[in-house]
Amino acid sequence: MDKLIVEGGHRLQGAVNISGSKNASLPILAAALLTDEPVRISRVPDVSDTNYMIQILSQLGASVERSSGTVRIESPDGISSSASYEQVRKMRASICLLGPMMARMKRCTLPLPGGCVIGDRPVDLHLRAIQALGARVRVKGGNMVIEAPNGLVGTTVDMRGDSGPTVLGTDNLMMAAVLAKGKTVIESAAREPEVVDLANFLNKMGARIEGAGSRTITIHGVEKLHGCEHTVIPDRIEAGTFMVAGAMYSDGITLNRVCREHMKSISDLLVECGHVVEYNEDGTSVFVKPGANPRSGKILTNPYPGYPTDMQAQMTALFAVTPGISVVKDTIFPQRFMHCSELKRMGANIKVDAGTAIITGVEGLSGAPVMASDLRASAALVLAALAAEGTTEIHRLYHIDRGYEMLDEKLGMLGARVRRELDPEGGPVEP
Ligand code: EPZ
Repeated sequence: MDKLIVEGGHRLQGAVNISGSKNASLPILAAALLTDEPVRISRVPDVSDTNYMIQILSQLGASVERSSGTVRIESPDGISSSASYEQVRKMRASICLLGPMMARMKRCTLPLPGGCVIGDRPVDLHLRAIQALGARVRVKGGNMVIEAPNGLVGTTVDMRGDSGPTVLGTDNLMMAAVLAKGKTVIESAAREPEVVDLANFLNKMGARIEGAGSRTITIHGVEKLHGCEHTVIPDRIEAGTFMVAGAMYSDGITLNRVCREHMKSISDLLVECGHVVEYNEDGTSVFVKPGANPRSGKILTNPYPGYPTDMQAQMTALFAVTPGISVVKDTIFPQRFMHCSELKRMGANIKVDAGTAIITGVEGLSGAPVMASDLRASAALVLAALAAEGTTEIHRLYHIDRGYEMLDEKLGMLGARVRRELDPEGGPVEP
């Protein structure tokens, strides 16, 4: 168990490279199960979540080799169609094994994913989709036992849930449909860039998918898929996190290997709040620095292309030291405010009620021992620590290691004083 010690007061400067997208990598790694030919996936970030997925694929019987950011996967016939609770419990996103397992093996046994601190994480839409394609679903001993002995048959499925579209649910249905008989139409599909990246990967394998990135995706089933090579898109949430760091406490930083098109709602909000955001001509690099008169702002999270729920905690850290009153409402994960109580330990003035945080900017924050709770909340604590007076100890660093590749090294390259230390007792006592 590690903790991060951050010495506040060192303004960032310089440039860093943004890693490949964790959330694009996870379903693409799972999609490797759809063929017995080798696939090579580049720019897969070296984070716990992708390493968990690689471990699961190996345990299923696939051969997986990782050399720096490139992963080579070969899934021979006879690989297992069931993943154990031990394997799956560490990462909820392993639900995206459901689609490829059903397409390739017509059956799968997967533990029902538990919830997590950002809220209940139901899978009803995933099950609605696979049942629509003709599968039978039973729940036994905490597992979903799903079978389609006669194979999967394409149909039209509306994937809209009470909280809007589902990213991994759209991914699962796409991956199940690529080898199904006939045509599948996904209505109310998620439009996230990571869904588009998966569709591009599947089409390179020989799938016939049209409309990814829009609300309606059409998949024409094919007999077989073949191997391919693919480089995942840049991680827009890592990039957004560093952009907030640049706006919050820097003399100007440059982020390389970004994709301007994927960052629009994040960039627009920073500009609306008075900060400097300048892309190079082809939109692959962005320069960010604090505005002269930063302004408070409002966030209402929405499915892409709206403002991402994965970025609201980071902006809350910036709002905490921005004059005026800011408001953050998360329509996707209304409970996703664990970071607020920890930010208040650092002197922030935040009231949270019914899925909304009201943040009144304060002069400055002060370092304190705080506890990470989930991936993006932890990132918010790091951002606050950079700007705080004094030293902050962030416990349970494993939350950050799930989704940020070399965060402490990258911040160090920008002039931050951060160091990782062993945390023998694992952090402050649970409240
Ligand atoms: C993906 O999770 C991301 N994870 C999440 O990022 C992200 O927060 C989320 O999309 C929303 O953008 C990965 O891509 C690996 P959803 P996913 O299904 O697909 C409800 C991070 O920090 N829902 O789009 O699991 C659900 O409760 C992570 O990197 C159902 O009701 O999320 C939520 O309110 C955290 N039934 C909404 O839909 C279902 O069957 C959107 O969830 C599925 C979802």
